[in-house]
Amino acid sequence: MQKPETSKSADLGGGAAPSSKRVCILTFGCQMNEADSEGIAAAFRRRGYTLTDELKKADAVVVNTCTVRQKAEDKAISQIGRLRVWKEKKPEGKVFVVGCAAQKLGEKYLKGRFDFVNEVVGARAIERFEDSLIRQLGPAPEGEAQHQNLYRSPQTAYTTIMRGCSLKCSYCIVPAVRGPAVCLSPKAVLEDAAAKLKAGAKEIVLLGQTVNSYKYGKTTFSELLRKALRLPGLERLRFMSPHPLYYDAAFMKVLEEEPKLARHMHLPVQSGSDRILKAMRRGYTRGQYLDLLARLRKAAPGLAVSTDFIVGYPGETRKDFQDTLKLVREGGFSLAYCFKYSPRTDRPEMAADISEKEMEARLEELLSAVKENSRLVLNGRIGKIVEVLFETENYGRSSENFAVRVKAGGAPGSLSKVLVESAEKNTLNGNTQ
Ligand code: 5AD
Ligand code: SF4
Repeated sequence: MQKPETSKSADLGGGAAPSSKRVCILTFGCQMNEADSEGIAAAFRRRGYTLTDELKKADAVVVNTCTVRQKAEDKAISQIGRLRVWKEKKPEGKVFVVGCAAQKLGEKYLKGRFDFVNEVVGARAIERFEDSLIRQLGPAPEGEAQHQNLYRSPQTAYTTIMRGCSLKCSYCIVPAVRGPAVCLSPKAVLEDAAAKLKAGAKEIVLLGQTVNSYKYGKTTFSELLRKALRLPGLERLRFMSPHPLYYDAAFMKVLEEEPKLARHMHLPVQSGSDRILKAMRRGYTRGQYLDLLARLRKAAPGLAVSTDFIVGYPGETRKDFQDTLKLVREGGFSLAYCFKYSPRTDRPEMAADISEKEMEARLEELLSAVKENSRLVLNGRIGKIVEVLFETENYGRSSENFAVRVKAGGAPGSLSKVLVESAEKNTLNGNTQ
């Protein structure tokens, strides 16, 4: 799932020696970027750096950029622009610009426009971030722990299983900036997840742009899931984002048989109109998507599904949009991220062709349909039992990814069954059983 273009820092965890240097990591965009930022944080940590949210206190700044929509790119660019003043006050400070917008715009452009930037590392070359660090800060001392749990919540850790995307959705810039899909070996994936579990994580999220298309040698996605589900210490396994095209019977069986596989899926649909889906080259119809939801819910009763929608795709008529609105209820989505179409190419046929006013109006209408539907979905859980992984003594997340509050809960990191008694806004309230 791509979250709205927010900026936040990766958490290094652990106590900081007061004299150590600090890095401020500003992350824009999706979970993929957040996972990359965790890796970047680890590389800094090996050099004795700790994390800060305060630019003023930082000795190095990393801007991990996104370009999925123009707004995301603009935000990253203005963030970089604001670093000029920081660098003037701290000329020895290091500025790293990484990620998807860095890939798209390139080193020449970025260094030309922002002469204070030290290093530019595109999303495709993120594995080579270490080389940039060596250039700027020297090599890391040997023997430092490589596998630290760097997550804000000690329960959840991300493991990237593939990079890039080999599909060609018409609106999407990801394949151009991240390149075709490349899968990591099951050994690398399982070692990474195992290390994170050993460091205290209870929940692992397997990440990839079309995560369920995973294939490495003979190992399929379903086989990888089965292996990951057997890792010691794992309480819950999630993955994101799957693509409707890659679900198969083997996966349905895993879902049916493995209770630790989360009862939530983020399954982007993008539009409820067959005409638009075709233009988007999504590879499925509305009917096929709904049929898939039915099969998933048959395999995992109570499964919650969230999604992404794009409004205002070129040529989207009022009728197409109505089809999208109707899909909100029909799909029974627990949540949906809604985006205004953002042209990512100069090709004239891909220009936005409805007015900004109409675009906004459609977005608002869709958001309120989503909100209304989420309320129904939450209310539908009253009287049911959910399994909660506690983050604090009285707050946690259910397998369906609902936020759950209880009066007397469990120890952080523990799992408990909770009877849902009421629902408010985005939260379920209940009592442990
Ligand atoms: N315009 C608007 N939304 C987009 N997304 C991807 N590309 C675009 C674009 N050009 C949305 C899709 C995708 C999510 C990550 O971002 O909904 O699922
Ligand atoms: Fe983009 Fe489509 Fe690939 Fe998702 S599946 S990253 S929307 S091209």
